[in-house]
Amino acid sequence: MHIQGKTALITGASRGIGRAIALEFARQGIQRLLLVARSHQRLAEVAAEIEEFGTEVILFSLDLTQPVEVNIAVARAWRDYGPVHILVNCAGVAHQSSFLQSRLPHVQEEIATNLIGMYTITRLVARRMVVQQEGTIVNVSSLMGRLAAPTMATYSATKFAILGFTQALRGELASHGVQVIALLPSLTDTDMARNLEWFRWIIPMMPEQVAKALVKGLKRNSTEILVGWQSYLAIWCDRIAPPLMEKILCLAAPLPR
Ligand SMILES: NC(=O)c1ccc[n+]([C@@H]2O[C@H](COP(=O)([O-])OP(=O)(O)OC[C@H]3O[C@@H](n4cnc5c(N)ncnc54)[C@H](OP(=O)(O)O)[C@@H]3O)[C@@H](O)[C@H]2O)c1
Repeated sequence: MHIQGKTALITGASRGIGRAIALEFARQGIQRLLLVARSHQRLAEVAAEIEEFGTEVILFSLDLTQPVEVNIAVARAWRDYGPVHILVNCAGVAHQSSFLQSRLPHVQEEIATNLIGMYTITRLVARRMVVQQEGTIVNVSSLMGRLAAPTMATYSATKFAILGFTQALRGELASHGVQVIALLPSLTDTDMARNLEWFRWIIPMMPEQVAKALVKGLKRNSTEILVGWQSYLAIWCDRIAPPLMEKILCLAAPLPR
């Protein structure tokens, strides 16, 4: 699919990968962007950058873990700005720790944002896309949604779940003209990654590379978009020698805290 002239709603658009996707969509000639995150100030900074490209930008500062806020925002978006053609579910949080040191509030936050938050907005948007018989939903998982590693158990669990959610929805919504795809970035240099202890040997991507990979994947109608050669190598290695890949992941992981 091409994005020229379309309307996209992007969650997690105030920083990192979501911000880079918003800027890349604008560069590619999207007509209108609805940007979602909690921080209005950061969203406004992104909007100022985007307006240079002539794209209309509307901001929704809301917390995706609050279903009422999300419900009101999606209804207002459709009423005031017409149909959304592309939903990018990019908002997410990650907490790193050894499993034995892990804390329930962190796990609850990961599940509330990465899974329930994604579920809430996707259901509201998908219902409307089905009525218009058109739409594309992009769920941002991670390479850690394919390959789990020490210190990231609960985050990985949410990212594996997103791939299952995506695959099931793809089958269910295809007959309604709605395609559902997954984006699987590897380590990317953002605020999220800066708060983690990095895995050895992994070269971080830049958010702009992830955004360009998404646009390329959308043009090719890919159902799962990997980013960078390291991801292809890791998935290939896992396919042909899973025990070896598991060993490599254990060696690469930071020592559990
Ligand atoms: N960075 C990586 O290495 C990496 C690798 C693979 C996959 N990913 C995935 O890529 C996505 C983006 O990650 P990132 O690295 O760009 O992270 P980031 O820089 O920390 O940005 C996270 C974004 O999510 C928003 N957000 C968080 N909680 C929210 C909530 N409750 N309601 C609304 N918005 C919320 C944040 O905005 P506010 O704080 O303003 O709300 C921010 O815009 C995530 O799903 C992450 O799991 C990241």
